[in-house]
Amino acid sequence: MPPWCNAVTVRVVQQVFPADDGVTTVDPIDLFHRDVRQTDGTRPWILMNMISSADGATAVDGVSNGLSGDADRSLLGTLRGLADVILVGASTVRAENYRAPRTPEDRVGVLRATSGRPPRPRLAVVSASLSLDPTAMIFSPVDPADPPPLIYTASGAPGKESQALARVAEVVEAGVGDRVNINLVMADLTNRGVGVVLVEGGPSLNHQVVAAGLVDEFNLTVSPLLAGGKSKRILAGPALEMPASLKLERVLSDDGFLFCRYLID
Ligand SMILES: NC(=O)c1ccc[n+]([C@@H]2O[C@H](COP(=O)([O-])OP(=O)(O)OC[C@H]3O[C@@H](n4cnc5c(N)ncnc54)[C@H](OP(=O)(O)O)[C@@H]3O)[C@@H](O)[C@H]2O)c1
Repeated sequence: MPPWCNAVTVRVVQQVFPADDGVTTVDPIDLFHRDVRQTDGTRPWILMNMISSADGATAVDGVSNGLSGDADRSLLGTLRGLADVILVGASTVRAENYRAPRTPEDRVGVLRATSGRPPRPRLAVVSASLSLDPTAMIFSPVDPADPPPLIYTASGAPGKESQALARVAEVVEAGVGDRVNINLVMADLTNRGVGVVLVEGGPSLNHQVVAAGLVDEFNLTVSPLLAGGKSKRILAGPALEMPASLKLERVLSDDGFLFCRYLID
C-alpha cells in the first residue's frame, strides 16, 4: 500500500452490509476505532489490508497507486491510525518507495493518544537481501524522536548491508539462512508489547502470514476498475494446506470503492 496518508479527509460513507435498518451512512474513523481487536495476549492482533481491482489485480504498472483513490487513501489512513506497527515486504517498500508513516489526521491522532499509542505507527520491513537504500525515505523520520524502522532479516543476511542499515534502522535476526520466520517476527513484536500489526503486503508476505495462521482481520478494498495484467493475487504462493475461512463483518461503499471487512472465522 502506498504510504501517503497524513491528510485524511473526514468522510461519511455508505454502509452496505449489515443493513438491517436499511442503508446507513457512517463515519469510518469512528466505526473502525470502535471495533474490538483483542487477542488472548500471546500475540498482537493482526490486520491485513489490501486493494485489488474488480478482476483481482493488485498492481498497475508495478504499483498499487493506479488502483487507489481518495476514498481508499482515506480508509488506509484510518487503518494506519489503528496500528502500532505496519509490517511490509521489502519488494513493496522498493516498488512503492515507502516513506516513514506520517502523522495521522487530527481526529485519528486524538484517538491514538486516547488509547495510549505513540503518534505514528512504527514501520517493520521483512528482507533477506537487505537491499534497501539507507538514504531512502523510510529512514527519514517524521520526528527524530520516532523509533527507527525495524528490519527483520535472517542469519544469512549480508554483513555489509546489515552494518549500513543498522545506522538508520533496528536490524533484527528472525530466521535462518535466507528465510525470515514470520512466527519469530510476531514473537518479537509481542515481546515489544505491540498490540496491533497492520500487514500491508505485498502478496508474498501476505501468503506467509496467512499460511502461519496469524491473520485476525482482513480488509479488502475492491477498486472500481478492470485492470488485467499479470500482477500477483493478494496471496502469492502455493495453495494453502488449510484455506482460511472468512466471516464478512461489514461492507462500506465510497466513490465506487467497496471496503470489505472480514474476520477469520
Ligand atoms: N494492492 C495492494 O494492496 C498492494 C499492497 C502491497 C504491495 N502491492 C504490490 O505488490 C508487489 C510487491 O509484492 P511482492 O509479493 O512481490 O513482494 P513483498 O511481499 O512486498 O516482498 C517480498 C520481499 O520481502 C522479503 N521477504 C518476504 N518474506 C520473506 C521471508 N520469509 N524471508 C526473507 N525475506 C522475505 C524479501 O525481500 P528481499 O528481496 O529484500 O530479500 C522478498 O523479496 C508490488 O507490485 C506492490 O506494488 C500491492
